[in-house]
Amino acid sequence: MTIIVTGGAGFIGSNFIFHMLEKYPDYRIVCLDKLTYAGNLSTLASVMDNPQFRFVKGDICDREAVYNLFEEEEPDIVVNYAAESHVDRSIENPGVFLETNIMGTATMMDACRKYGIERYHQVSTDEVYGDLPFDRPDLLFDEETPIHTSSPYSSSKASADLLVLAYHRTYGLPVTVSRCSNNYGPYHFPEKLIPLMIANALNDKPLPVYGEGINVRDWLYVEDHCKAVDLVIHHGRVGEVYNIGGHNEMRNIDIVKMICDALDKPYSLITYVTDRKGHDMRYAIDPSKIHTELGWLPETKFEDGIKKTISWYLDNREWWETIISGEYRNYYKAMYVNR
Ligand code: NAD
Ligand code: DAU
Repeated sequence: MTIIVTGGAGFIGSNFIFHMLEKYPDYRIVCLDKLTYAGNLSTLASVMDNPQFRFVKGDICDREAVYNLFEEEEPDIVVNYAAESHVDRSIENPGVFLETNIMGTATMMDACRKYGIERYHQVSTDEVYGDLPFDRPDLLFDEETPIHTSSPYSSSKASADLLVLAYHRTYGLPVTVSRCSNNYGPYHFPEKLIPLMIANALNDKPLPVYGEGINVRDWLYVEDHCKAVDLVIHHGRVGEVYNIGGHNEMRNIDIVKMICDALDKPYSLITYVTDRKGHDMRYAIDPSKIHTELGWLPETKFEDGIKKTISWYLDNREWWETIISGEYRNYYKAMYVNR
């Protein structure tokens, strides 16, 4: 079995590669990644010498390179994690989101049609459903919830989902789609809420909370997400969408305070800044379908997952300090100074 994993030098893709190489030692895993600002080859250092693993630097929008890779590797499965993934960046610069998230998805699927594939899996997001109101805790996203996006990022992911399902209906491509809630864990790029707050707290820097900090996200430990995708690609029904979530709704401000407590840092570091444009209020996934059909349940409680995550950032300072000291510094200045 050969699996091409795109975006495997990023947060979730790398965790998925570690999971797959450990669980299926006889599978060949080929990572295709452009190494954008969010991709980090050092993340994959521990598997680079594994003979079952190959890293290929390349762009999912580069049709010739993608076709060449298919000819060389003859993959059985493609799992598409590659994307521009940060909402704030999409608000500043939507173009690259449309290019990678939509055109890149189409290019990967065209290769699958041309060379044949057992399964094309699209890693999508709960953000395609828009948001839920605070005063209706009974409402959750299920797979039938209408697509109703808020940001250029979520719109690009929703467009990709529509294309994936259309390629199934029109061409009979054997696809599956999973829509996951917010992940956290090791190798999470420090522009996202949890790693940014951990890194800033450790450096005694202000903790920039958008608006009033009352927005709610449904947090899932990354390993649990990887196990869910593993189940979907092996046992999920072709043409189906599976929601993946942890039943773990938390307000941003409560997470930031938890991080302060865990690191023994004062709440006075918390700084309320101008809200994100079009900021989604609340996400909450109903994971009944994947539970009933595939037996998946999240295994990691948030209290345990956040402790493991904080320990990982304490033990792997070099990984995130290198990122923070590089190009990312310019982004941080542009995004947060005078906000
Ligand atoms: P990430 O930003 O950490 O990593 C993205 C990876 O994709 C990077 O390694 C980057 O170099 C690579 N990449 C970007 N453009 C590329 C291109 N044109 N060609 C090849 N590689 C390219 O993202 P992540 O948080 O790991 O998210 C992975 C996927 O999961 C995305 O599709 C995202 O939409 C989805 N998702 C993320 C979350 C989350 O909480 N992080 C939740 C649900 C869904
Ligand atoms: O729901 C899944 C999505 O989760 C994925 O599709 C995206 O790729 C991923 O980036 C994530 O999107 P969010 O916008 O929810 O994640 P982010 O970490 O950027 O923000 C989480 C919440 O924290 C959100 O309400 C905004 C807030 N926030 C974020 C940052 C970076 C702050 O208050 N301050 C910050 O500095």
